[in-house]
Amino acid sequence: MTTNNNNKLTTSWGAPVGDNQNSMTAGSRGPSLLQDVHLLEKLAHFNRERVPERVVHAKGAGAHGYFEVTNDLSQYTKASFLSGVGKRTPMFIRFSTVAGESGSSDTVRDPRGFAVKFYTEEGNYDLVGNNTPVFFIRDAIKFPDFIHTQKRHPQTHLKNPNAVWDFWSLSPESLHQVTILMSDRGIPATLRHMHGFGSHTFKWVNAEGAAVWVKYHFKTEQGVKNLDVKLAAQLAADNPDYHTEDLFNAIDTGDFPAWRLHVQIMPVEDADTYRFDPFDVTKVWSQKDYPLIEVGRMVLDRNPENYFAEVEQATFSPGSFVPGIEASPDKMLQGRLFAYGDAHRYRVGANHNHLPINRPIAEVNNNQRDGAMNATNNGGGSVYYEPNSSGGATESPQHKPAAFEVSGQADSVPYDHDDHYTQPGDLYRLLSEEERARLVRNIVGAMTPVQSDEIKLRQIGHFFKADPEFGRRIAEGLGLSVTE
Ligand code: HEM
Repeated sequence: MTTNNNNKLTTSWGAPVGDNQNSMTAGSRGPSLLQDVHLLEKLAHFNRERVPERVVHAKGAGAHGYFEVTNDLSQYTKASFLSGVGKRTPMFIRFSTVAGESGSSDTVRDPRGFAVKFYTEEGNYDLVGNNTPVFFIRDAIKFPDFIHTQKRHPQTHLKNPNAVWDFWSLSPESLHQVTILMSDRGIPATLRHMHGFGSHTFKWVNAEGAAVWVKYHFKTEQGVKNLDVKLAAQLAADNPDYHTEDLFNAIDTGDFPAWRLHVQIMPVEDADTYRFDPFDVTKVWSQKDYPLIEVGRMVLDRNPENYFAEVEQATFSPGSFVPGIEASPDKMLQGRLFAYGDAHRYRVGANHNHLPINRPIAEVNNNQRDGAMNATNNGGGSVYYEPNSSGGATESPQHKPAAFEVSGQADSVPYDHDDHYTQPGDLYRLLSEEERARLVRNIVGAMTPVQSDEIKLRQIGHFFKADPEFGRRIAEGLGLSVTE
């Protein structure tokens, strides 16, 4: 940390350092002295340089930029940062892979995280999405088990294709995301050449309190480009930070990547009658039913000055909403509303929002006090409880989330509609013959190491139900015979 102007090396308590190359010893050949506090401090701080890496999405790259409204949709949402064409809001994005550790390769087959923090005048709004519109599972209760299958085996510490395909084959709701992941889009050419999605359904509420359901799509202006699998494997060995480097260099040379943000909007009453549950994150809404409506443009024009301070310590939470944007009953989203804040308190600390990268530009005014690493004036002597008779901060009833009706019995129940096959089948049928051939080759390559024929056959059954040709080709590629 450089805080003085005369370039004088200091200890962390600001005192000048006399010697930073030779530790203090008892005699020139003697043992080191405990009183060399600069040495002790230097070694001790070094031991504490790492915070826990994210339990998922550990490898990432980030950039600053801005979001500009191109189409005013304030008839649907009162979110102030979305109202008024030309309105600009500073933002920060972190892209990531999901399963690998923080030093893992960028060019692996994996979804890419697409986490955006908008620093709005009404507080930070985090849209913590991926580069795919759907997800493998649709209930938060399955997430830790799912991620276990993506991570390393507890004994061998190796990746485990048996676990991956065992879980997927027993969780057929994963088929849509698996098909996207195994397609060309599973390995983007760069972070600039992919779309981003909020994936879940969210609720927008306007100034009159009227609600709609909404899905977000960030469309890349660079065009979608993907990596050839052989090149991706080569790059994984030669330049594991290929995507990180590409993003940094593009911004550094003024080639600022941009995305157009679109939404799909569903009237609330349609949710009861739509042909599938619109809160099921394994499904996309038809764009014929709910066309894309442009909202604005996101431009990344500034690299972080310090990776740890800005990218590693950034904390994004799907629960960071601003007035006009609310949760939907999506069971994955509901679990995520808890999981991220909890991860941040563990990984960065209870006061993670005091850090410059996470600090809102909106004034924070509440009765939270103290806690480890409190980096504010901690409220000074101002009132620290409510209700009070001292004129403390008060709530704004107009910003209460919109009231909504619930009904039914409390119970653990699956989603109502169980069609796992129509949308992945439609996707398969949309692909060109070359794309289908590559999809089949990627799946066969990924399933070949699976030791159990039972798992393979179960999964082939799902591909078959999506489209008989799809299933047959995978079976042939794996040298297994299936009867229709
Ligand atoms: C990161 C949990 C589903 C996108 C994380 C982290 C946790 C987590 C604990 C690490 C946060 C941190 O340490 O800062 C969960 C749970 C899920 C879920 C419990 C399901 C119930 C999803 C879905 C998406 C997603 C469906 C995308 C639509 C991301 C992204 C990050 C992330 C982009 C990285 C954020 C960053 O860059 O800091 N998730 N996740 N997750 N998750 Fe999820």
